[in-house]
Amino acid sequence: MKFEVCDAELMERYLAVRREVFIEEQGVSEEIELDAADHLPTTVHVVGLDGSDAVASGRLLGVGSPTVIIGRVAVRSSVRGTGLGRQMMAALEQVARERSSGDFTLELHAQEHALGFYESLGYAVASAPYLEAGIRHVTMRKSVAA
Ligand code: COA
Repeated sequence: MKFEVCDAELMERYLAVRREVFIEEQGVSEEIELDAADHLPTTVHVVGLDGSDAVASGRLLGVGSPTVIIGRVAVRSSVRGTGLGRQMMAALEQVARERSSGDFTLELHAQEHALGFYESLGYAVASAPYLEAGIRHVTMRKSVAA
């Protein structure tokens, strides 16, 4: 398994994971799932590759700023529970560290069912539950020292 920052060629395979998980499986609309933040210069997309097959996704917003937002974390359903989610989070954190100059905060909007997953990775709940894309979420944060 390897984790790569997406270039134009990898983007297509990476987006196929997001489409499968968020649009097809979870019923999020395409307009919400594929948003304007995908195209910002401070956004970084990371794909998990098993050979040439994309199996996991994740993105970072605001890379290089004091708060970096992790989102679109997904693992194809057929390979969940095998540690890929944890590995994707480690890859995202590593890219955020490499591209930050000092201490920073990692923030994410966790679907409630995945709260335990993020807690096990050191994230703490920082908000009351709210609806985003029709799904209950909580904001979670983790401080990272340079
Ligand atoms: N709730 C609580 N714990 C969870 C969990 C969940 N939903 N999913 C995984 N875990 C635990 C695992 O048991 C494992 O614990 P362990 O190391 O003690 O065995 C640990 O978290 C890591 O699991 P891992 O196998 O790396 O997770 P995964 O590959 O199944 O990926 C998700 C986790 C959330 C990314 C995956 O379930 C997924 O893609 N879900 C659909 C998309 C989604 O909802 N994404 C989150 C958006 S906020």
